[in-house]
Amino acid sequence: MYSQVLFCAALAGTASALSLPPLIPSIPGVTEPLASNAPPLPILQVPTPPLDSPRHDINTSIKPKKIGYFWTGAGDNQHKDFLATYSLDDDTFGELIYITDVPSSGNSPHHLGPTLDGKTLVGGGLLSLLKTQDTAYYFDTSDPYAPKFVKSNRALLSSITDEIRAKPDGGFFITYMGSAVGSSPGRLVETDADFNIIHEWPEDVDSTLNILGEQFSPHGLSVDWGKKLILTSDFVVPATILKPASALGIQRANTLRLWELDSRKITSTITIPDGQGIQDVKFIPGNKESAALATAVGPGQVWIIYPFRKNQDGTQGTAELLYDLGPRARDNLAIYSDITDDGKFAYFTLTLGNHVAALDISDLNNVKRLDDPEEDQGIVGPHYIKVSPDKKNLLVTDYFVQTGDIGVVNTPADFKAQWIDILEDGSLSFNRSIDFASEFTNRGGAKPHSAVIFDLTDPKDPKFY
Ligand SMILES: *[C@@H]1O[C@H](CO)[C@@H](O)[C@H](O)[C@H]1NC(C)=O
Ligand SMILES: *[C@@H]1O[C@H](CO)[C@@H](O)[C@H](O)[C@H]1NC(C)=O
Repeated sequence: MYSQVLFCAALAGTASALSLPPLIPSIPGVTEPLASNAPPLPILQVPTPPLDSPRHDINTSIKPKKIGYFWTGAGDNQHKDFLATYSLDDDTFGELIYITDVPSSGNSPHHLGPTLDGKTLVGGGLLSLLKTQDTAYYFDTSDPYAPKFVKSNRALLSSITDEIRAKPDGGFFITYMGSAVGSSPGRLVETDADFNIIHEWPEDVDSTLNILGEQFSPHGLSVDWGKKLILTSDFVVPATILKPASALGIQRANTLRLWELDSRKITSTITIPDGQGIQDVKFIPGNKESAALATAVGPGQVWIIYPFRKNQDGTQGTAELLYDLGPRARDNLAIYSDITDDGKFAYFTLTLGNHVAALDISDLNNVKRLDDPEEDQGIVGPHYIKVSPDKKNLLVTDYFVQTGDIGVVNTPADFKAQWIDILEDGSLSFNRSIDFASEFTNRGGAKPHSAVIFDLTDPKDPKFY
């Protein structure tokens, strides 16, 4: 009798230790079709440990005012992913100051973002789920010249990290474009100031029905803290860029979700007809109507979202075509953007078009194109883009995604970071770049996906962007 009780207790213990929460909350009548329509899952990679970074010369003697942090994968996918810290000052431009390794490899380092106080950076791993590695990597930048890796974590319901926005309380909002297995729906992840994941939005019933009812693949993310709005834009179902699911074709979305900031509830779904992947969305700084620009990568167009205007059917949020970027922008797979903080100029990277487009948007009724759409800018595969805090330069990284044999997205790239001069009228002059392929030959080259800029020129008003 005594031993039987013990045995039962032991069994109960094992059972509860093995019990995992369901990946998608079960809602009768809603989630059953999801299970039968689920795409075939990508093939998991052997979780080989990363190889240590080879020895590399760095220049620890300089302390530049402008610093560029690049979240980078090793070219061979076998050495550790790393954060590369470079000088962006004029006199020491392109000097490598520091390399910070993380304990992952082949994770496809994706976007990078700073906290408001500049003490922490977070970088996402796009393909973490393939080797079941963590999805978000945190760096301590209290010493801006020697970032330290602090910790990493992963979410329960979602994966495939994309856009990052710092919260005033010290944490982050991060779009996770896919579910835990890379299908739809993804989630809007929220962390606390210690960078623990505290929510995977949405969590209320109506909004959950919204994301289960229509593809939810949030990539773009913009927050209007004053008007208390969030916009996320739906790009592609991530599993469908990977084999074997890609056999069915890449599943692109035409939608954005408008959220109420305080409740983190989805207010409405905004559609860009035939947008075929809305990669990015950004509120225009200072716009009285809280208008935002969204990029539709199929037609190669910039659309303007008015979150407070209403459609004929009474739903909140309208979308109108603002500017067609022309033939070079069509079917680009990726068009990412940034807008100057005075709301005057907007810049767009056409990844497959090998081109950076510039628009003067100071008069939204008379948008002017500032680049020559026909010009060969001498760059390959531009993607991530940031206006420097002093608005004198654009930082563009020439690498998007290369899944290799395991997927269908392998965009050409020259693996450079372009430091492009912004002229008085907002137009661009291509000047300097950092060549990651030649700097990191000791690990098969390097793939810098994204960057953060610190500008410490004014010690009383440092900028972290
Ligand atoms: C570090 O950078 C400075 C400024 O560019 C240069 O003078 C110096 O030679 C560099 N040191 C090393 C070890 O590369
Ligand atoms: C590149 O930038 C440097 C530093 O601002 C400047 O001195 C130089 O004239 C620029 N070169 C070109 C070709 O624009």
